[in-house]
Parts: sequence; C-alpha cells; structure tokens
Amino acid sequence: MNMYTSIFTSLTLSLLAAVSSALQTGHDPIISHLNTSLPAAIPPSLDPFYTAPVGFEYTTPGTILRIRRAPGNFTAVMGSNCSAAYNIVYRTTNSRYLPSWSVTTLLIPSTPLTNSTVSGLGSALLSYLIPYNSVDVDSSPSYILYSSSTPPYGDQLGSGWFVNVPDFEGPTASNVAGIEEAHAVLDSIRAVLSSDLGLAIDAQNALWGYSGGSIAAEWALEFQEQYAPELKITGAALGGLVCNTTYVFDTVGNTMWASHGIAGLLGVTSQYPDAYNYILDHLKPSGPYNKTTFLSIRNMSYDQGHAAFNGQNMYDYFINGRDVMQAEPVKRALQLNTIMTYHGVPQTPLFIYKAIHDEITPINQTDAYVERVCGLGVNVLYQRNTRGGHVDELTNGAARAMTWLTTVLEGRYASIYSTTGCIVQNVTVGESNTGL
Ligand SMILES: *[C@@H]1O[C@H](CO)[C@@H](O)[C@H](O)[C@H]1NC(C)=O
Ligand SMILES: *[C@@H]1O[C@H](CO)[C@@H](O)[C@H](O)[C@H]1NC(C)=O
Ligand SMILES: *[C@@H]1O[C@H](CO)[C@@H](O)[C@H](O)[C@H]1NC(C)=O
Ligand SMILES: *[C@@H]1O[C@H](CO)[C@@H](O)[C@H](O)[C@H]1NC(C)=O
Ligand SMILES: *[C@@H]1O[C@H](CO)[C@@H](O)[C@H](O)[C@H]1NC(C)=O
Ligand SMILES: *[C@@H]1O[C@H](CO)[C@@H](O)[C@H](O)[C@H]1NC(C)=O
Ligand SMILES: *[C@@H]1O[C@H](CO)[C@@H](O)[C@H](O)[C@H]1NC(C)=O
Ligand SMILES: *[C@@H]1O[C@H](CO)[C@@H](O)[C@H](O)[C@H]1NC(C)=O
Ligand SMILES: *[C@@H]1O[C@H](CO)[C@@H](O)[C@H](O)[C@H]1NC(C)=O
Repeated sequence: MNMYTSIFTSLTLSLLAAVSSALQTGHDPIISHLNTSLPAAIPPSLDPFYTAPVGFEYTTPGTILRIRRAPGNFTAVMGSNCSAAYNIVYRTTNSRYLPSWSVTTLLIPSTPLTNSTVSGLGSALLSYLIPYNSVDVDSSPSYILYSSSTPPYGDQLGSGWFVNVPDFEGPTASNVAGIEEAHAVLDSIRAVLSSDLGLAIDAQNALWGYSGGSIAAEWALEFQEQYAPELKITGAALGGLVCNTTYVFDTVGNTMWASHGIAGLLGVTSQYPDAYNYILDHLKPSGPYNKTTFLSIRNMSYDQGHAAFNGQNMYDYFINGRDVMQAEPVKRALQLNTIMTYHGVPQTPLFIYKAIHDEITPINQTDAYVERVCGLGVNVLYQRNTRGGHVDELTNGAARAMTWLTTVLEGRYASIYSTTGCIVQNVTVGESNTGL
C-alpha cells in the first residue's frame, strides 16, 4: 500500500470521530432489547439486513424500513462517548428518480447536548459523509466503521452530537453519482430525525464532508429545496470540494490517483443501465488493459483500487479511448451527476476549506464555485490554505471545520457571523506531508 493511501485511510478513519448512555427506547418495540454482545458484523453483500422489504416502493422517501442495533461489540469499537449505535434501512430514490433504499448508522452520544427551549431531547445532529470512494458495497461506512483503529467521531459524540453516517452510495455502490447521493443523504436525515432514539425532530442539523464526502454533502444541499423542502439544514462544512468530477476523471490518468477515474465512471453509470452497458460493451476483451482487469475494481476497497490502478490511464481500457465519455448515454449521465450548481445551490451557511495546492481538484474551480453561490446569496466562510495538498487539508482543516460546526450545532452561528455574505480568507495552517 502506498504511503499516501495509508495516510488518507488512517486520517479518514480517525476523522470518523464517535460514543454512550441509556436510551429511552423502551417504547419502541423494534429495538426493545439492548444487547451488547451481538454477532459480529458481516459484509453487506452477505448480510440479509441489507435488503428492502417487499412493498418498500410504496413508502415515502425517508421512511424507516428496518432498524437494528449495530452488530458486534460496538462499545469496543466506538469508545465511551457512544452509548449505542443503530443501523437503519430507509427508503430513498435513485438518480433516475426510481424507488431505492440505503442504510445509515446512527451513533448516540453518551451525554446528548439538549436544548430545553425545544424539547429536552438531543438538539444536535451531524451527518458525516465518509469519502469511501469505492464501487464495492462491502466498503460501505456501516461496515468499514468496524475497521477504525481509534473510536470514530469521539470528539463529535463527546460534544453531545448525534452522528449520522449514511452509506450514501446506496446498494449499488454508486460512487460519485451526484443525484443518487443527494437523495440518499437527505433521506438518511429524514430517517434519523424520525427514529425516536432520543433526538429532537427539530434538532440543529449539519453536514460535514471532505473530498468524496464533500460531493455527497454538497449535492444533498443542492437538492434539499426541491427534494426535501421540509428539512431545515443548519449549516455544512465542505472540504476539498470536487466541483466537477468529470474533470477529475480526465486529469487523474497516469497519476497515483488513477483509480478515481475508473471507480467514478463505473459509479456514475451504475445508475443508468444504458450508460453502464455502453461501458461494458466498449472495454477491450484482451490485452494488458482489458475488461476483466477494469471490472475487478468492483470488488476492491478504495485502498486496493488505488494500489492496483496506480499510474494507469483508464482510457487505455476502452476500444474507443476517451471517446467513451462523449457517447450520448455516458455524456448525459456525467452531465447530470458530476457538475455542481447544475441542479441548485445550497440554502444554508457554508464553511468551505481547501488547499491552494490541491492536486486533485484545482482551487480555481472552488474559487469559481464560491463566487457563484455567493452571487446567489449563500453565506460562505471560505478558507484557502497556503499549506499542503488534497490529503494534507483533510487533517489541516479538520479543527477549523469542527470549530465552525460547533457554532452551528450549538445554535450560535447567527450571533458570531452576524454579517451576511461571503468571507474569503487565505490562511496558513497545519503541515504539508505531501511535498505541496
Ligand atoms: C445477545 O446476542 C447474543 C449473540 O447473538 C445472543 O446469544 C443472546 O441471546 C442475545 N441476548 C439477548 C438478551 O437478546
Ligand atoms: C465489549 O468491549 C468492551 C470494551 O472493550 C468490553 O469491556 C466488553 O467486555 C466487551 N463485551 C463483550 C461481550 O465482549
Ligand atoms: C470523548 O469526548 C471528549 C470531549 O470531547 C474527548 O476529549 C475525548 O477524547 C473523547 N473520548 C473518546 C474515546 O473519543
Ligand atoms: C467539467 O470538466 C470537463 C472535463 O474536463 C469539461 O469538459 C467541462 O467543460 C467541465 N464543466 C464545467 C461546467 O466546468
Ligand atoms: C487482462 O489483463 C491482465 C493484467 O491486467 C492479464 O493478467 C490478463 O491475462 C489479461 N486477460 C486477457 C484475456 O488478456
Ligand atoms: C465482485 O463484484 C461483483 C459485482 O459487484 C459481484 O457480482 C461478485 O459476486 C463479486 N465477486 C466476488 C468474488 O466477491
Ligand atoms: C483554472 O485554471 C486553468 C489553468 O490555469 C484554466 O484552464 C481553467 O479554465 C481555470 N478554471 C476556472 C474555473 O477558472
Ligand atoms: C435552541 O432552540 C432554539 C429554537 O429553535 C434556537 O433558537 C436556539 O439557538 C437553540 N439553542 C441551541 C443551543 O441549540
Ligand atoms: C489570496 O491569495 C491569492 C493568491 O493565491 C491572491 O490572489 C488573493 O488576493 C488573496 N486573497 C485574499 C483575500 O487575501
């Protein structure tokens, strides 16, 4: 495994910050037994929990379809700031607006932050979007949380926040499929707010995502007004923003980040049978860059794919080279699912943080994004870091994002950022471990 990859993974998992106290769940028959020694988690592809019950299509988006205590010894995994964790199967809608479902993990803080002016129940909900960047459903957060070397979300749970960690790529592991991810994130929030697990239905409600997680978070914000108009989202922290994922597919070829192109193209087109079949039909049957090798990424975690395709050019796998991107069904799927601000703009305050020397997603695209949403009246605090690259900013920006999210989730945003409009700052924070 490449050093950068293991840094990325360990930092990602250490950011999966999270927790534990007694729940008032006695009134809910589905979860009436608390059991701290459940059988160990098994991969989603083998676990019958990861299915939708018959007739789920007829429920409304966000409906809870199944719920269970997260399997295994979650206390050992999650640390003392977490009192319990649940897996929830919920109804959502795919990129083609057909009924679908996904799974989220809700972590309950040991000592919930409450707001007596509302209800005395938990008053803060953070949805953390893990950049899992894989087209293998067995890399879904609800399962990979168990691989975390440190208790994930310790600080967030320690702040009394409920933490919602959706498998936003859904059952088809549709990596970077913007519309599908937007729906899956919004419906996970609907599901956890209605879960009756000690969280107030009108809790302050924020999103946080870096890189692949920023895609899920930002697309959710773009779709909120049209898809989930009743949801009040209090704020969002977006790091390493990927404004144009198609651009990334084009530019990662022949670099160490090459797997993002392959997993991205398969992820987006997995939502569109005509585009997916076009891809399958135009992969070379033999030679060093063949269909079997290309598709092997479907059984790989991000780290495995990163190592296997390091330095390659995905267009070498296609009979028609880069023209594959111009074929009508593929082009349409990409246009609809990879360009930010095509469908809408966030309706909530944003904290955006980015390394000026980000080598995967150029800073000038984020500059342009900020200019556009600011022009449409969004409140943005945008910090451009002179230190480090894409991987560095994951950690360099984490403390600043946490501080900003704290003001949002404690209901103090309006008093601190009293002026509306945009603030753009150059900052110099943290370390550079990647030579940038
Ligand atoms: C808890 O789970 C274990 C392992 O599946 C099972 O043997 C035990 O009966 C369960 N206890 C309760 C109270 O449900
Ligand atoms: C679960 O983990 C906790 C913390 O490591 C430990 O105290 C407890 O004994 C474990 N429970 C079981 C049933 O293994
Ligand atoms: C629990 O939360 C406190 C307060 O945020 C934090 O200092 C501590 O490190 C957390 N513990 C764990 C195990 O995450
Ligand atoms: C996104 O990137 C692609 C590939 O580089 C480019 O062709 C397209 O014009 C870009 N779209 C926008 C809206 O910037
Ligand atoms: C496909 O490519 C792999 C190397 O990536 C090679 O080992 C295998 O023999 C190739 N298969 C065919 C049918 O050419
Ligand atoms: C690999 O992934 C494909 C598609 O996701 C699946 O059908 C197949 O069973 C997987 N194979 C293995 C060996 O896990
Ligand atoms: C970003 O800079 C590159 C080259 O420096 C330029 O080609 C591109 O058009 C710029 N993109 C935006 C959105 O300004
Ligand atoms: C409590 O709720 C009220 C009403 O929604 C809100 O104005 C206030 O900011 C909240 N305070 C906290 C600490 O969440
Ligand atoms: C930030 O630095 C850039 C150069 O990277 C400069 O063009 C810009 O004016 C600076 N912005 C602020 C707000 O200082």
